[in-house]
Amino acid sequence: MQARRIESPPRMRGSIDIPGDKSISHRAVMFNALAHGSARITHFLTGADCLATIACLRALGVAIEQEGDTVAVHGCGVSGLHEAADVLDCGNSGTTMRLLAGVLAGCDGRFSVLSGDASLRSRPQRRIVAPLRALGAQIDGRDGGERAPLAIRGSRLHAGSYDLPIASAQVKSALLLAALCAGVPLDLGGRIDGRDHTERMLRGMGAALVLEHGRLRLTPGAALQPCSLRVPGDPSSAAFWWVAAAIHPDAEITTCGVGMNASRGGALEVLRAMGADVTVSALRAEGDEPVADVTVRSSALRGTIIEGAIIPRLIDEIPVLAVAAACAQGTTVVRDAQELRAKETDRISTVVGGLRALGVAVDAADDGFRIDGGRQLVGAALSSHGDHRLAMAWAVAALAARDAVLVGDAGAVDVSYPDFWATLEQLGAA
Ligand code: S3P
Repeated sequence: MQARRIESPPRMRGSIDIPGDKSISHRAVMFNALAHGSARITHFLTGADCLATIACLRALGVAIEQEGDTVAVHGCGVSGLHEAADVLDCGNSGTTMRLLAGVLAGCDGRFSVLSGDASLRSRPQRRIVAPLRALGAQIDGRDGGERAPLAIRGSRLHAGSYDLPIASAQVKSALLLAALCAGVPLDLGGRIDGRDHTERMLRGMGAALVLEHGRLRLTPGAALQPCSLRVPGDPSSAAFWWVAAAIHPDAEITTCGVGMNASRGGALEVLRAMGADVTVSALRAEGDEPVADVTVRSSALRGTIIEGAIIPRLIDEIPVLAVAAACAQGTTVVRDAQELRAKETDRISTVVGGLRALGVAVDAADDGFRIDGGRQLVGAALSSHGDHRLAMAWAVAALAARDAVLVGDAGAVDVSYPDFWATLEQLGAA
């Protein structure tokens, strides 16, 4: 899709059903594929990333039916996975590639190649390749295993213990899946504080996985049971509307059915600390995850410091939090977020470049940036650089800009939020 031109409407009111969580949608189809039996997943995210996971699993021989956001997975167990006839195309999806790499490394005797688009092929993979090799995996890629395509010869893995040096849920999940598929014990420590959807879902499916003294221990043996579920709304998608409402002069937006998992809760905490007018209501449980409705109203925001342990709990929301910071009085500093450089784009340089074009005073650092907020944003022609979260962050920035903002390569939203532009129109912004 070409560019979208966004002008801020005078008033924004709305109640939005937030599409299914991307991380949970991937896991729901992948883990059920590894179980024996059928499961029905509703409110599945039909974004390109999760569709790539379905396509890869089908290529591995898993029977999956999809109708809109309802998906039936007929799990065939690890032993039922076939060798795919061609390269497995993960598209833009790091989660598809890294989690599947774990599964396939533990599938003894089967050979696979994982690849993806130019962005995914440029992203670091040694973070999974090195610890998988330490478990005995035969896995290689370009640059000595740092970049995809990744070639994996499934083999007999052995028991292992590993301390994660970075808080990555994808790395944690890849290792757990490798051990689970190979039927070997695994002991994980270090930065296991990334999102915990894998642990919750695997436990719910019967895996023997415990968290003790800051370490995750997986004991083999238990076969996975199929698990039907309704996927909660994605807090990373809802965050665009939270910031939109907070920075707009006359707005009240309710996001319905949003996941409230604490390991994803950083953005809401930061917005509250910045003075956002937030109400959380109807807190309830959906399967293994808590959900709620979240209402945000026009707010007088102030700058804040975002650093340390909260970073993994809001890493995907940093582009839109940067837009909030640009509209806040005072200074906001983001640090300890070098992981931003390893996302779909280098989100330190792409965020800083876009904010500057909008007239914001911002300085980049190796591990984050500093924003001096409170100036009126100006209109600009920005690019998403093919990064879904940037496309949406720039659309939100337009809601506080003096003139129209042009968002180039606007189709990137399809990766995680195909209805984003239609929802923005519903809220009155054209
Ligand atoms: C994800 C984990 C995070 C996140 C990504 C989805 C997941 O990445 O940024 O969008 O589903 O496990 P890292 O594992 O690299 O932190």
